[in-house]
Amino acid sequence: MSLILKAMKTAVRLAPESWLPGGTPDPLMNKHGLIGRPVSRIDGPLKVAGAARFAAEVMLDGIVYAALRYSTITRGRITMVDTAAAEAAPGVALVMTYRNAPRMKPPPVMMSAPKAAGPSDLPVMQDAEIHWNGQPVALVLAETQEQADHAASLICFTYDSEPAITSFALAKAKARTPENILGEPASIEIGDAEAVLKDAAFKIDLTYRTPRHNHNAIELHAATVAWDGDNLTVHDATQGVNGTAWTLAQVFGLKEEQVRLLSPYVGGGFGGKGLWDHQILAAAGSRLCGRPVRIMLSREGVYRVVGGRTTTEQRVALGAKPDGTLAALIHTGVAAMTTHNACPEQFTFPARHLYAADAIKVGQQVADMDMLSNTFMRGPGESIGTYALECAFDELAEAMQLDPIELRRRVEPEKDPTSGIAFSSRHLVEAYRRGAERFGWDRRDPTPRSRREGDWLIGMGCATATYPYYRMPGGAARIRLTVDGRAIVQMASHEMGMGTATVQAQHAAERLGLEYDKVSFEYGDTSLPSGTLAGGSSQTASIGAAIIAASEALTKELLKLAGNDSPLGGLKPDEVEARNGGLGKLEEPERYESYVSILKRAQRHELACEAEAPLPLEMMKYSMHSYGAQFCEVRVNAVTGEIRVSRFLGSFDCGRILNAKTATSQFKGGIIMGLGLALSEQALFDERSGRIINPSLAEYHVPVHLDVPSVEVIWTDIPDPHSPLGARGIGEIGITGVGAAVANAVYNATGKRIRELPITLDKLM
Ligand code: MOS
Repeated sequence: MSLILKAMKTAVRLAPESWLPGGTPDPLMNKHGLIGRPVSRIDGPLKVAGAARFAAEVMLDGIVYAALRYSTITRGRITMVDTAAAEAAPGVALVMTYRNAPRMKPPPVMMSAPKAAGPSDLPVMQDAEIHWNGQPVALVLAETQEQADHAASLICFTYDSEPAITSFALAKAKARTPENILGEPASIEIGDAEAVLKDAAFKIDLTYRTPRHNHNAIELHAATVAWDGDNLTVHDATQGVNGTAWTLAQVFGLKEEQVRLLSPYVGGGFGGKGLWDHQILAAAGSRLCGRPVRIMLSREGVYRVVGGRTTTEQRVALGAKPDGTLAALIHTGVAAMTTHNACPEQFTFPARHLYAADAIKVGQQVADMDMLSNTFMRGPGESIGTYALECAFDELAEAMQLDPIELRRRVEPEKDPTSGIAFSSRHLVEAYRRGAERFGWDRRDPTPRSRREGDWLIGMGCATATYPYYRMPGGAARIRLTVDGRAIVQMASHEMGMGTATVQAQHAAERLGLEYDKVSFEYGDTSLPSGTLAGGSSQTASIGAAIIAASEALTKELLKLAGNDSPLGGLKPDEVEARNGGLGKLEEPERYESYVSILKRAQRHELACEAEAPLPLEMMKYSMHSYGAQFCEVRVNAVTGEIRVSRFLGSFDCGRILNAKTATSQFKGGIIMGLGLALSEQALFDERSGRIINPSLAEYHVPVHLDVPSVEVIWTDIPDPHSPLGARGIGEIGITGVGAAVANAVYNATGKRIRELPITLDKLM
């Protein structure tokens, strides 16, 4: 992303004002019809009926099944491998280690090039070197999964261990400042925040800690791969078909178009469904063995091969003036990372744009550890950054004896506090107002431990949610209009269950003036026009802008095709609109011709137009973010310390909501994941061995139904005039602020501040 942001920053300096998308708001942003309607997901019935085919369900002739073995040391070398027993085991087709693996280039690491998707820049199974505890050291292919698993267990390894950095404290002592954080400066200082803090009337200066997390998508990572000569087909579970295909092409020395990636259904991604070693190893094994290969990681395998959210230690210091405005805002800290990837967990991003202060200091460092590459996980940075920042605001509000919502109102900025540019649309105060009213915030007693029912202490807390608006460059859409009056929209994008195909069919139908059931959206296949990744809550805007561009191209072509015999004859594209299944002159009902009529007269079966979305310059011109106010009520058992979230409400300001039903699910899913972050989730990294010791859902605790109370979601629905359809992303904001809302409620209930996640009962006793 950093490269892309840099390129866009150059482009925006060169671009005249009129080039900026968002200069003229999208006319659909205020249109009521299909947009906003709670349409049910197109993929819903297929999934319920078991008819949606996932990556591990694709059957190919002659397929063999893969099993992996993982290193049990953290750093060092393999000194001996004995594969004889595995090779002799029943059903075995191939045993592959570094000794016989085909020669492959290291994958270009994510963000090193526009389509780079490598988890790290390490070569995959090319030598005896071990870089993390859990690194794949052998791949076995066999006739059945059970035979592959059994044979893999028979391989013997001996290792020479070397000292490894597995202690966060030791790594932190040698922390370094990265060149940038996703294209943003690693640190920003406005005024002398430390000096201002010293003299502030009210101040707090605190440290918060957050652990590792794993995404734990229900669908295990899987790929079914096959070679046809030098052409590779991969049925994958991925959030980025184009990036994965391009990167695999680099690894195997192929042209991009020699790799076809298909990923029509993904059972949850959250940032984890990208390219990892298993797809590369499956393709390598398939090449060596000459047969199609299915690989599906076990749940343990996911923890060994797929990185998650990383550990952070964060300092938040706030200094306030007697009038409740901020004199100093400081948010700094360290995140664990490796030297082989570049995913610095941008936890200081929220503090860069949320609140006004006379002096601001934000900055973050990374601490290199010998571990599996960490990666993006839902609300990377923002989810845990808001935990620290928003807990600190609650602590400051208490020190000032001010209502925490009133404090947020007093520090509301007029423009982005660090970049100085205007907000595209910001209604955080309104989100707090509506949320507080709906939640019954006025019933909260600010004195901790003041509400009790039997053994249960009851408390309320709130916190700000925020996530940036992103739109990724490089996406193109094709619209195929057919003579039967239907439209097929095509773009290599992704459906992970969030409603992409449904919402973009709604969008395209409204854009083209067609009925919803006349439009379908095709995605998840690199043979379609290039899409952008499903990440950074950016996909809806990225696809949206490409569909706008393609529909403009289509209008031009339709007018050409209509010719002078049409009632549209002589009209220019900006004089017409799409309506009732055709084009019509603006404000002139009688000058109209249907698509079917235009195509028939031209004796065409189909008209197809493809166009690339314009560069997302709106992101450079405006400070664009989604906002929300999270409200939590907890009940804490005074005897056992057991914590139960009893009510939760999220009040969001994310621009126009495009589908009330799928949006509600995105917000609720984010909030539920946030309850896990707050109360139970933690990937336990054993600092002695460097190994994750709870690689299973039995010991890594995600929220289950009994942990999830009634969650209510409301939104402002105020369109953002600078984004396609007036919408900003909603996939990730739901998880942000939840950790702090829960922690603040726990404090209100018990009088105990927990500054280290997860908030477990032992920390309350
Ligand atoms: Mo998201 S963590 O950008 O898939």
